[in-house]
Amino acid sequence: VSDATPSDASAALAADGDVGDTIEQVGQRWRAIDPLLPSPDAVPPGCGAEFLAAGLAGAAGRSAAPGPGRAAGTCEHWHGEPDSLDLTWGAEHRYTLHPRVAGDVPAALDDLLARWQEHLGGIPGADGPDTAAVVNWPSRDVRGVATLLRQGFAPLAVIAARVTDAAGSHGPADGLAPSVTIRRAGPADRDAVVQLGLEVVRFDSYFGGVAERPSTRAALTHETEGLLSAPQPWVWLAERHATPIGMLAAEPPDRAAWIAPLTGLSPVAYLLLAGVRSGERARGVGAALAAELNAQVSEAGVALTLLHYAQVNPLSAPFWSQQGYRPLWTVWERRPAAVAASP
Ligand SMILES: CC(C)(COP(=O)(O)OP(=O)(O)OC[C@H]1O[C@@H](n2cnc3c(N)ncnc32)[C@H](O)[C@@H]1OP(=O)(O)O)[C@@H](O)C(=O)NCCC(=O)NCCS
Repeated sequence: VSDATPSDASAALAADGDVGDTIEQVGQRWRAIDPLLPSPDAVPPGCGAEFLAAGLAGAAGRSAAPGPGRAAGTCEHWHGEPDSLDLTWGAEHRYTLHPRVAGDVPAALDDLLARWQEHLGGIPGADGPDTAAVVNWPSRDVRGVATLLRQGFAPLAVIAARVTDAAGSHGPADGLAPSVTIRRAGPADRDAVVQLGLEVVRFDSYFGGVAERPSTRAALTHETEGLLSAPQPWVWLAERHATPIGMLAAEPPDRAAWIAPLTGLSPVAYLLLAGVRSGERARGVGAALAAELNAQVSEAGVALTLLHYAQVNPLSAPFWSQQGYRPLWTVWERRPAAVAASP
């Protein structure tokens, strides 16, 4: 572990010859396993601690791995603002490792996670109840999965991707009852959108990642006002006899820049929330809402749309798969972030 200023962690990593080679190898692996991944050389800046690790090829149980393992990474520290909507999506204090691993992936990742754990163990408060250690790992990079599980990480969420027009989906409003209509929402719909959004948050909070907090309603209201202030908001309501029964809210590329680095394609939109009231599900309403966004992203020239879903939400994965989304990143978490060192 070496120290560097937070702003130039990526440059410092790249300047190290070994790390440059590692990142080059990671690029080859990532291009082979998933063409939607970004180039791995843009390592997000971290806290100043960089981790370099080597795993030994042929270590117990890993003899099938090709060549010695090499890994590099930075650790980003994130502390939620008291009233931010981001607090609803996870822990208040998040320590995110950005790993770049090549060669013997299980061994090198094991070594990298151990060094990171030492780092987390030295951070005051990182063992608190509202903390998480987070690793975004490419979903198709299956060679890291067993190591993450062994080190106590759970695959809480998936970041799924849909390439515009290259993926299948239901047609708009196929089979919808005549009493159900779908329309674009406007500023006057704020409270209906917020109420339906809160119901999605409550459903998702069963699965361990998302949590409704005292500030969630106000933060969601603020976010919704921002989305609805656009001339053509990317927010749709489903209504039965004019009563709201479902909603979908998305960020166009100018609001989705925060997540765009997770893919090499551009421009990127982000599907923030979608939900249908429990008594109205499995009747095509969700598919009709998704079809509105599909048409919108096509018209706007969006290359790729991303969304998060909870890995164990039984409704999400099959539904989003039917709408043309597939896993890109898996979000692995351990809570609390720091664990006591083994004796
Ligand atoms: C996920 C969710 C938005 C889907 O909405 P929905 O209206 O139930 O979705 P649809 O009806 O379009 O599709 C769901 C199922 O109904 C089926 N279906 C679609 N049209 C149908 C129709 N006319 N008649 C009967 N079934 C139909 C679909 O084939 C699908 O079934 P399958 O998954 O077994 O193949 C909804 O379940 C929901 O709100 N869940 C809780 C909140 C949530 O999880 N949000 C997503 C967070 S990422």
